[in-house]
Amino acid sequence: VEIPAGAKIFNNNCASCHIGGGNILIAEKTLKKAALSKYLENYETNSIQAIIHQVQYGKNAMPAFKDKLSNQEILEVAAYIFQKAEQDWS
Ligand code: HEM
Repeated sequence: VEIPAGAKIFNNNCASCHIGGGNILIAEKTLKKAALSKYLENYETNSIQAIIHQVQYGKNAMPAFKDKLSNQEILEVAAYIFQKAEQDWS
C-alpha cells in the first residue's frame, strides 16, 4: 500500500514531537480534535487554514516550517492532520 505524501511529511518533520498525534513537549497540546479545538486559534472556523498557519509560523517551542517545506507540502501535512484528528488518530 502506498503511503500518502502527507503521512511521509508528518513522519519526517513532525513525528519527533507529535508521535501518534501527541505532544512530547506540552502534553495537553496534542493534535487530537478536542485539543485543536481548544488551543489552536481559528480551528473551529477553518481547521485546515488554522493548521497551515501554525506550521508556517510555528509557536513558542514549535519551529516555523515556511522556509523548510513548500506550500504544497504544508497543505498536504495539514490535510493529513485534519483527517487523522477526525479519526481520533486510530
Ligand atoms: C503545537 C503541528 C512539528 C512542537 C502544534 C499544533 C499543531 C502542530 C497543529 C497545535 C496543537 C494544539 O494547540 O493542540 C505540527 C506539524 C509539524 C509540527 C504539522 C511538522 C510540520 C513540531 C516539532 C515540534 C513541535 C518538530 C518540536 C520541536 C510543538 C509544540 C506545540 C505544537 C511545543 C505547542 C505550541 C504552543 O502552543 O505553545 N503543532 N507540528 N511541533 N507543536 Fe507542532
